[in-house]
Amino acid sequence: MSQPAASASGAPVLEVRDLVTTFDTDAGRLTAVDGVSFTVHRGRTLGLVGESGCGKSTLVRLLARLLDASDGRIVFEGTDLAALPAATFARRPERAWVQMVFQDPTDSLNPRFTARDTIREPCTLLAGMGRKEADARVDEVATQVGLPLALLSRFPHQLSGGQKARVGIARALAPRPRLLILDEPTAALDVSVQAVVLQLLDTLRRDLGLTTLFVSHDLNVVRLLTDRVAVMYLGRVVEVGDSASVFAHAAHPYTRALLSAIPGHGPRIRLVGEVASPIDPPPQVCRFASRCPAVHDRCSREAPALAGAPGAPGAPGAGGAGALGAPAAHLAACHVARWGGAEPAAPAVAD
Ligand SMILES: Nc1ncnc2c1ncn2[C@@H]1O[C@H](COP(=O)(O)OP(=O)(O)OP(=O)(O)O)[C@@H](O)[C@H]1O
Ligand code: SF4
Ligand SMILES: [Mg+2]
Repeated sequence: MSQPAASASGAPVLEVRDLVTTFDTDAGRLTAVDGVSFTVHRGRTLGLVGESGCGKSTLVRLLARLLDASDGRIVFEGTDLAALPAATFARRPERAWVQMVFQDPTDSLNPRFTARDTIREPCTLLAGMGRKEADARVDEVATQVGLPLALLSRFPHQLSGGQKARVGIARALAPRPRLLILDEPTAALDVSVQAVVLQLLDTLRRDLGLTTLFVSHDLNVVRLLTDRVAVMYLGRVVEVGDSASVFAHAAHPYTRALLSAIPGHGPRIRLVGEVASPIDPPPQVCRFASRCPAVHDRCSREAPALAGAPGAPGAPGAGGAGALGAPAAHLAACHVARWGGAEPAAPAVAD
């Protein structure tokens, strides 16, 4: 796999600003996505990483409008998708703009639909194609994803895992989305098939100039496949920046621990301490404080905001996550990372 040739230009395709979603549970209000902001530019791939339960799937489901946001904006080429009523969204043309490839191709395919029915459905329902045009599009996109046309008459149970994955990718691409979301697209596949499907996604991404949001636990794949990466912890983005910069100079203690799990990426940092509860989290406390090896008094008085990491080209306020225009190269939400590891002379210094 290789780095993409596309470069960021102009306004972002997607600008997510202060996005929040809560779930009412028996234990209280669970904040699954908590004030998340980032941008994605045309033809670029943003990776989304973080441990299980940090809110990655909830976030991408918000973007695809499969869930309602409690607050915030999802501005897609000037249109705030979060403001469109959920009840009517399925019938709106914007519904075709964002398409998702789900984790488990078996679960996400209708067992009563042939592969052709599955891929054709979004063409007619979302992209307004007539039957003949939609069938031609099915053939085109099946060819692009390497699915033999002879298999289009088969039902999911008559296909292998890799073939079902190709059907899921073809279905997502069929209505020509402006943003393709891949939520752990290979996690349910055999290891041997994973590499083939990842190679296919990388080829499609570059050949079709796709704008992509890629969720994965596989940090090596994220490093190879993405231009930028956002690291989530307990509903918040704690670090975002150019992938090369984040992987080489992680600023946030959580990112450092996460990356230390990659073989050959320095000594392993094992986190101790309890993960804080996502139920009614105190807003003034850093979410990572209970496990952070660098925790400081200030971390329980004032939750840090994303700002330029020391030594990185990005600077606070210089087109940071969520600002229009070119994104800052590297931002982290950590007081200590911003001090460069040393406590400032006056701890009350403004961020
Ligand atoms: N419908 C729901 N009702 C209540 N809580 C939910 C709901 N959906 C998700 N959550 C909670 O929101 C948090 C984020 O879940 P989410 O599935 O987004 O995590 P994730 O980062 O995708 O995890 P994984 O890597 O395991 O897929 C978790 O605490 C989860 O239990
Ligand atoms: S703000 Fe404090 S607790 Fe949070 S990550 Fe930085 S050093 Fe650790
Ligand atoms: Mg998930």
